[in-house]
Amino acid sequence: MQTISSIKKSKSKTPIVMMTAYDALFASLFDTKVDIILVGDSLNMSFNAKADTLSATLEIMIYHTKAVCQGAKDTLIVCDMPFGTYTNKKMALKNASKIYRETNAHAVKIEGGSERAHIIKTLTSNSIAVMGHIGLMPQFVRRDGGYKIRGKDEKDIKQLMLDAKAIEEAGAFCLVIEGVKAEVAKEITKSINIPTIGIGSGVNTDGQVLVWSDAFGFFKEFKPKFVKKYLNGAELVEAAVERYCDEVKTKKFPAQEHTY
Ligand code: KIV
Repeated sequence: MQTISSIKKSKSKTPIVMMTAYDALFASLFDTKVDIILVGDSLNMSFNAKADTLSATLEIMIYHTKAVCQGAKDTLIVCDMPFGTYTNKKMALKNASKIYRETNAHAVKIEGGSERAHIIKTLTSNSIAVMGHIGLMPQFVRRDGGYKIRGKDEKDIKQLMLDAKAIEEAGAFCLVIEGVKAEVAKEITKSINIPTIGIGSGVNTDGQVLVWSDAFGFFKEFKPKFVKKYLNGAELVEAAVERYCDEVKTKKFPAQEHTY
């Protein structure tokens, strides 16, 4: 099983595999296969059909993280701190401590660059492991007016490099780089000593993360360029549901072998 320290040491080695999970059932299927399970606040969109992640609460994240910890006992688990739960040092420490106390998550994840480094420092100096998250940050979507690819001009590239450095210096063990031009993600990865995990940021990061329901094709309408579909989940489930309905209506199910 990976630990915070083994992940830190995997910089520039075999790529780190991270996948989201939100419940015990799927977490148990990913357990020991992926290196890290992220209980992402993306669950607010993928499992709660909300337009963005902003209305996920601490209680919701704790509920799902408990379930994931129950299903995946041998995988490193990271819980996303939801929007508005780490706006100052005191609040961040209180809420991250609550996550540590009430779940078995090994770390929390925080979105933000240099402006959030003091928050990360507070948590790491109080023995809470933190994964950073820079680039396209879904919790900033309303402020930024949409999901925008980062690293397109010199000013933004400079800012991203500063953000990555500040997060490393604040003691984060790992850094998610989302929606950043591949060349820029590569430069950021080279410039820091903690591993980077990319999503929509090209192949030259120290690992990759995908939202599981995107990777397994459960959303027919949502097809961003960075997602590879490893399964036609929606089609398989729909076909199975139709077969079940049909067999109940035509009395093919239950058959003799399903009957006591
Ligand atoms: O919430 C989430 O699932 C995430 C990943 C996309 C990195 O933050």
